[in-house]
Amino acid sequence: MATEQSRITIFDTTLRDGEQSPGCSMNHQEKLRLAHQLDRLGVDVIEAGFPIASDGDFEAVKVIAKVIRRPIIAGLARACRPDIERAWEALKDAARPRIHIVLATSDIHLKYKLRITREACLAQARESVSFAKSLCDDVEFSPEDATRTDPDFLCQVLDAVVEAGATTLNIPDTVGYTVPSEFGDLIATIRRRVKGIENVTISAHCHNDLGMAVANTMAAVAAGARQVECTINGIGERAGNASLEEIVMTMRVRHDRYPYETGVVGEHIFPASQMLSEITGVPVQPNKAITGRNAFAHEAGIHQDGMLKNPLTYEIMTPHSVGVPDSKLVLGKHSGRHALAIRCEQLGYQFDRRALDDIYRRFVRLADKIKHVEDHHLLELIRDTHKPAGSATPLFEPLSATVAAAGAASPSSYESSKPFPMAPQTSAFAVPAPIAADHPEQQQEDYLWGV
Ligand code: KIV
Ligand code: ZN
Repeated sequence: MATEQSRITIFDTTLRDGEQSPGCSMNHQEKLRLAHQLDRLGVDVIEAGFPIASDGDFEAVKVIAKVIRRPIIAGLARACRPDIERAWEALKDAARPRIHIVLATSDIHLKYKLRITREACLAQARESVSFAKSLCDDVEFSPEDATRTDPDFLCQVLDAVVEAGATTLNIPDTVGYTVPSEFGDLIATIRRRVKGIENVTISAHCHNDLGMAVANTMAAVAAGARQVECTINGIGERAGNASLEEIVMTMRVRHDRYPYETGVVGEHIFPASQMLSEITGVPVQPNKAITGRNAFAHEAGIHQDGMLKNPLTYEIMTPHSVGVPDSKLVLGKHSGRHALAIRCEQLGYQFDRRALDDIYRRFVRLADKIKHVEDHHLLELIRDTHKPAGSATPLFEPLSATVAAAGAASPSSYESSKPFPMAPQTSAFAVPAPIAADHPEQQQEDYLWGV
């Protein structure tokens, strides 16, 4: 295996391991729809399912294998003939089929789950890979629970499956137990000790039980793995798999540390995440890196002020680079005058500083009560300025006389009967173009004013 090669194979298992997460099962039409999106996204391998698991999964793998022609299509099989035959039956029409065989190798799995000896495991691994190889050139082998397997025995099994014809050795951290330094060492050990390793690809498959799936995957890549197994939004068994978008964007944003390339088209990341969420009905956690709704949202006044001047102050990648339509400034109690003024302007209102100060004080009190100030709240708050004296609204206290008197501060010739401009019912708004840096004193003042 050429580790000097910097191209990393992206093996997407959203349709197999991802689908195994509670609430994420998909029928074959849904799988096919997502497979088309994974193809557009540019992944190299789509693991379409586990054909022996159900007739539905068999059909899904079969139709994906027939229809999606660019990427490799993989199907999972346990290390036994019926599984391998069923997988091959589903995969055989693929332009580029791959049989993926899994067999546990840790003592705890051998003793309690499989109830076989190490010797029997070694023989089963060898035989199943030989059989798969007689059907398909491209065979991946996964020693399940590799990170809790005795490294000597692990290398013995890997020697045997390479000899039997495996082309990819996938090293799963099945229970999400390892940590980056240990996993990197394990990959280095495998590279040093397994015979014929230079002719096969080492792959990493990490689960997120300790929240380290992506960090462990990156450590494996740094140690020589050239395939990563991952899922959209990090879905997967229990705490999930390493998230595709986090791995890919780590390699892009920190290319200085991870100088590797992938075939992923960044602009298709967010659409893939949205499609998955729509199909499964499982929402993305708001603070999920890259694809969560808050990943490009800013509420703190200091941050909003910086973002309005230059988005690079608080964003390490552009939302567009991952297909997110725009950064959002969310109006809440942490927002500053700068963001409030910009939003008022976007809604068609300009205020001088005194007027804005007054609105700002009331805005903060309101935000304390209702958390997120939506455009319609803000419009009501502005309209309140023009209410005839004595009338009251449940949400807002009247603005001070200063603002009411400052007719010039509100939209000219505004009448209370006039309808408000149409605005989306959201407090999140797009970041305008950066402010030119030609007035430094003004900008410093804006900074203090922004919070
Ligand atoms: O986590 C795991 O061990 C797996 C294997 C099938 C690779 O998903
Ligand atoms: Zn897994």
